[in-house]
Amino acid sequence: MRNITKIISACLLSLSVSQIAYAAGETPFPADWKSWTSVTTTLTTIGALPGCDADVSSFPPIYQETVETYCAVRPQGPGAVAVLVKPDAMASYTKRDGKLVEGSNMILHLKELQLLFVTGLNNGAPAYAVFKEDGTDATGADGILSANTCRVCHTGYGAFCVNGQCGTLK
Ligand code: HEC
Repeated sequence: MRNITKIISACLLSLSVSQIAYAAGETPFPADWKSWTSVTTTLTTIGALPGCDADVSSFPPIYQETVETYCAVRPQGPGAVAVLVKPDAMASYTKRDGKLVEGSNMILHLKELQLLFVTGLNNGAPAYAVFKEDGTDATGADGILSANTCRVCHTGYGAFCVNGQCGTLK
């Protein structure tokens, strides 16, 4: 596996710089994200991802783990959030049937950090990426902004999340 990664990395190095910048994200930048549908969910009702000293013991375990993962990003936590859904994916998002459209479908917008956490479907499987608002790929190769961190939680809480979708319309 490591070798394959090395070979892929070597191939990517021979591509243009702009292509290398998009290498880590698994789903494309949704250039029209500002026109996506803003939805109300458990997290948007809370309003923000808080800092590490917040008492989140009354929330479901997945929310506690989300806060634990991201609380230290800034001293007061990541801050205000919005959830945006691609209009074509709204019917499926509402039903939570996991039948989202191929490509990018949902965004967790960390407004104060100006970051877009993006999920999508790639050949039917959940795919993850992090972008700056201008489309710069900020997905990490490892660590808290890596696609694997997203996957461990979004796929790991299989009873809570459906094909990568964790939130529910409120
Ligand atoms: C420890 C758990 C956890 C991790 C890690 C995590 N998320 Fe989430 N994510 C959640 C939860 C819980 C929600 C639902 C929030 C709500 O109520 O709207 C969510 C919501 C989202 C949404 C809105 C659509 C949905 O599924 O409800 C997107 C998009 C998203 N996350 C992307 C990402 C990406 C990309 C990463 C990795 C950089 C990531 N998440 C890391 C737990 C996690």
